[in-house]
Amino acid sequence: MRLPRVLLLAVASVIVLATSAACAAPEISVAAPDRGTIGISLPTTKSERWLSDGRGMEQQFELLGYKTDLQYAEDDVKGQISQIQGMIDNRVRALVIGSVDGGALKDVLASAATAGIPVIAYDRLIRDTPDVDYYATFDNFKVGVLQARYIVEALGLPEARGPFTIELFAGSPDDNNADFFFDGSMSVLRPYLRSRKLRVVSGETSFRRVATLRWDGAVAKTRMQRLLAGPLADERLDAVLSPYDGLSRGILEALVADRRRLPIITGQDAELDSVKLIAAGKQSETVYKDTRELAKVAVQMANSLLTGGTPEVNDTKQYDNGVKVVPAFLLQPVDVDRTNYRRVLVDGGYFTADQLAG
Ligand code: BGC
Repeated sequence: MRLPRVLLLAVASVIVLATSAACAAPEISVAAPDRGTIGISLPTTKSERWLSDGRGMEQQFELLGYKTDLQYAEDDVKGQISQIQGMIDNRVRALVIGSVDGGALKDVLASAATAGIPVIAYDRLIRDTPDVDYYATFDNFKVGVLQARYIVEALGLPEARGPFTIELFAGSPDDNNADFFFDGSMSVLRPYLRSRKLRVVSGETSFRRVATLRWDGAVAKTRMQRLLAGPLADERLDAVLSPYDGLSRGILEALVADRRRLPIITGQDAELDSVKLIAAGKQSETVYKDTRELAKVAVQMANSLLTGGTPEVNDTKQYDNGVKVVPAFLLQPVDVDRTNYRRVLVDGGYFTADQLAG
């Protein structure tokens, strides 16, 4: 029987999509086989990146014949635990989890292990449990290095006499990534702080002092307001280390309300609102992490575990979760500022020019 050309093309595109979505693609048929359901639990819908992670995984799992149960925990630790327990009770075949509190999932993951359900930590390491199989993430230390290097270069620190003033912000203390970002940044900034070319006027320099629970922009804004009214009242501020766009926007609001000259300020995630601020010369930098690629890595890991393969990893040393070193695949983050945001984000298809204009 001769198949019509349109149908042949459709079959060919299913094959191409299925094979490009995962290296270890299962056997291919036109009607996707029912391979069961994957539980995907992500931290919040309040930040754009997690929406795009969720969409990316749904699409790619579906191409491979899996159904998905995607749920968001809205930064509620207990809520996330009960969502995951519900997925286990519904016998999902695998769990992909972007944790709210990386140290709070020990018991629920023990129950996943008893049910024989493999677990992939998504973007954030899950700590203090043996029951996590693989970790899909970015080079988190490097994210912090990129942010700090941006500040060093923008201030011309190696040559300039200084001193310059800086304030430090870190992410949520229950997110393992937050330590990695901060450590990466401090590895670059520390020599300049020691030589006093850089001064933290507030004196608040330890991770604990500068951390921002649940990555909440309003919390960062309040802290910036306190610093501006207190230790920085009569000081110029040259730079702010901010690890995430949502915090950067809160910090910028505080600075604008205080009619300050805007400092160099970093960020992360290339969120649309922050990219617009970069285009307008208000936020200086962001670290772009292509969530479409991260979704692919996680889907490939789950699919290969479920089809008897071994997921590809490229780091077996850095991510000790307190019980074991979790084998990880690290993607590379990209530094973005006013000079390259169009090329990286628009030409790279992450945003359309219209989205940035709107
Ligand atoms: C992620 C960042 C994100 C932050 C806040 C971190 O775990 O790696 O990309 O900016 O959480 O959502």
